[in-house]
Amino acid sequence: MTPLREGGSLPGIVEADDLGTYVMKFTGAGQGRKTLVAEVVCGQLARALGLRVPELARMWLDPVIGRGEPDPEVQALLKASGGLNLGMDFLPGALGFDPLAFETDAAEAGRVVWFDALVGNVDRSWRNPNLLVWHGELWLIDHGATMIWHHNWPTAEAAAAKAYDASDHVLASFGPDIAAASAELAPKITRELLAEAAADIPDEWLADEPGFDGPDAVRRAYVDVLLARAATIGDRIALGERSAEKPSQAPEWVRVRLNGKAGK
Ligand SMILES: Nc1ncnc2c1ncn2[C@@H]1O[C@H](COP(=O)(O)OP(=O)(O)O)[C@@H](O)[C@H]1O
Ligand SMILES: [Mg+2]
Repeated sequence: MTPLREGGSLPGIVEADDLGTYVMKFTGAGQGRKTLVAEVVCGQLARALGLRVPELARMWLDPVIGRGEPDPEVQALLKASGGLNLGMDFLPGALGFDPLAFETDAAEAGRVVWFDALVGNVDRSWRNPNLLVWHGELWLIDHGATMIWHHNWPTAEAAAAKAYDASDHVLASFGPDIAAASAELAPKITRELLAEAAADIPDEWLADEPGFDGPDAVRRAYVDVLLARAATIGDRIALGERSAEKPSQAPEWVRVRLNGKAGK
């Protein structure tokens, strides 16, 4: 129905043959299938931790659809993405999260920051929050730029041991309660839970990964890294000063309008 041009990957709002409306992410886009693998793993984990994420779906694209597409960039993407792609439930009327206009509490901010630290999400900054507000609640989207270690598996163990710099995180200014989030969420990240999330990755997005003996071996690598990281990441989250142009407070009338009350 329409391309989404805010970010870099050019997802599309599509209608599927179940008449549902989805945001579709294409295997033929920039970083390709690893972005979609990250969406699957993070989407399933976030949901299991009680965070709100749109429901995911496997979507089949007939590349013939590309022939009728007038925009050459979109046409190339459709033609390169025949077959299995990723869909997520479209949240109609959702607003992009604005930290100056919508507030969240320390507990929820802590849970989101802790989750982002676990998966090494570099795409939840105040410049580019990748959070939506829908029916007055926070929804997490866009987990394509996470688990950077899966782009270079031989270095994964070292990369996964690194700290998480949350100074530019869009929820850093809400006083995230990392200790509470860590105590609540870390025990939930079990080998079984991670294996369930990894089992949802389609085989074809894991095939031919160099250094691995088939899709299940790659799934185990995702599980091992995240399991190790979950145990200690809560102690390695840095909430320093923001890098630049710290946004100021939104005017009172904006905050009242969006939150129904005057707030932070
Ligand atoms: N499930 C959704 N419901 C409603 N809007 C969405 C949804 N997913 C993404 N969007 C909108 O599309 C934009 C781009 O999607 P995103 O997943 O962030 O991809 P990218 O940043 O790689 O282009 C988002 O910033 C948001 O405005
Ligand atoms: Mg985005």
